[in-house]
Amino acid sequence: MKLDIYGVMVFMHVFSAILSIGPLFLLMPVIKRVRGVGTEVEQAYMSVINVIIRIVMHAGHLLVVTGALLVFLGPWPWYTSWVIVTLIILLLSGVFLATGFTRVLRKFNKPGANKNEILRRLNRTSWGYIGLMLIMLWLMVQKPMLW
Ligand code: HEM
Repeated sequence: MKLDIYGVMVFMHVFSAILSIGPLFLLMPVIKRVRGVGTEVEQAYMSVINVIIRIVMHAGHLLVVTGALLVFLGPWPWYTSWVIVTLIILLLSGVFLATGFTRVLRKFNKPGANKNEILRRLNRTSWGYIGLMLIMLWLMVQKPMLW
């Protein structure tokens, strides 16, 4: 059995896809539990939320790097329609992560922050991000020729 670089890259790509979607399904139930708890429990939940978002962010970067290498090494050129649409959605989800998670989380510990509103935004962003990831997953698996 020959271990080819392309095969290893596809494996890493799919592994990073799993890691960049899966943890988000933990995020929503944790967000739900943060409401109405004491400061100490709230801090504990918030650090779990931070870890989840960090995992998703690192896995997302690995996903992009391995995806770019697959295009570089493999049979699909960058101008293939499903690759281009994925790239456009990817830019959107990057903006989503930066503004909807990181910036919002930073506000959480500021005095006078509206915590309920922040949690509501985090929840909404998580669903939006999952939606975008699922569209990209479909594009990757089906590889539709869109034009
Ligand atoms: C920079 C963006 C991306 C690029 C350039 C890219 C590129 C590619 C390429 C060229 C393949 C084909 C590998 C093959 O079958 O030989 C592939 C497969 C795959 N990609 Fe991506 N990808 C990107 C983002 C994503 C994202 C965001 C996800 C998940 C949401 C994802 C999930 C997958 C999966 C599951 C496969 C395996 C599908 C299959 O072989 O049937 N990729 N990707």
